[in-house]
Amino acid sequence: MAKRLKEKLNECELIPIIDLINQNSINTTSEKVGLVFPVYNWSLPKIVYDFVEKVDLSNTKYVFALCTKGGPGRQYVIQMLNKLLEPKNKILDAAFLVKVFSAFILAKPNPLHSKEKQLRRITDAESKLDEWAEQILNNKKGKGKKDSYYPMEDSYISFIEKVNNEDENYYSDGNCNGCGICVQICPVDNIKLINEKPEWQHKCQQCLRCLHYCPQEAIQFGEYTKGRERYNHPYIKLKEFINEKAK
Ligand SMILES: Cc1cc2nc3c(=O)[nH]c(=O)nc-3n(C[C@H](O)[C@H](O)[C@H](O)COP(=O)(O)O)c2cc1C
Ligand code: SF4
Ligand code: SF4
Repeated sequence: MAKRLKEKLNECELIPIIDLINQNSINTTSEKVGLVFPVYNWSLPKIVYDFVEKVDLSNTKYVFALCTKGGPGRQYVIQMLNKLLEPKNKILDAAFLVKVFSAFILAKPNPLHSKEKQLRRITDAESKLDEWAEQILNNKKGKGKKDSYYPMEDSYISFIEKVNNEDENYYSDGNCNGCGICVQICPVDNIKLINEKPEWQHKCQQCLRCLHYCPQEAIQFGEYTKGRERYNHPYIKLKEFINEKAK
């Protein structure tokens, strides 16, 4: 979605958060800043939370968010973003939330849809991009200003505090052939190959990429994932993740 949206905006630079997050300070001279990310735990992935806390937006006049999600409703993305933006004297100018499907196969029951439905949902979501891009280009103010009460904040903060160590539940089963692909594709370098087996280093974001994209389907999370079909984004191939990391 981020790449497709970029194509529709003038003079837009796409910067992965992962390229910035370890800097001591994050500054931008952009007058317009957008955050594009999937909803996690009814709100922001930890890395997005950390980024918004850290980024200096004093030169920015317009802030928007585009979030993909698997579940219904607006959830608590807008509230949390506005809470993080408040100390910076900012508020979300526009928020675009779009339901695609859920890759969160740790849920019960398994939320994965058929490949056809995944593709249909993505195509539907992308058909809205022209309208959203026009709103962004015209500085149009959208839904972002509403919502300040966040009834599930405690549970979300607990998720943020614990998520890095949730990888204690990962292991590779007998199908692992030691290829090292999981090491190559983890966006936060959280996996080491030791004696030809992956070991998780407790800085996990729970993006599930290693689990979904292991070619042997050898990565399991506790008892949840055995025998469950894996999810590969219809447009993003394994090679793209490997190349992205090799840059
Ligand atoms: C750790 C995790 C937590 C998630 N939590 C939620 C959630 O609370 N609500 C929701 O609607 N979708 C949730 N999802 C589903 C993601 O939002 C969905 O998989 C994503 O938007 C799909 O787009 P992508 O393939 O571009 O990542 C979660 C996914 C993961 C991996
Ligand atoms: S990608 Fe899968 S098969 Fe390859 S090392 Fe990792 S767990 Fe093993
Ligand atoms: S790829 Fe695996 S280890 Fe890396 S952050 Fe995602 S879930 Fe955690």
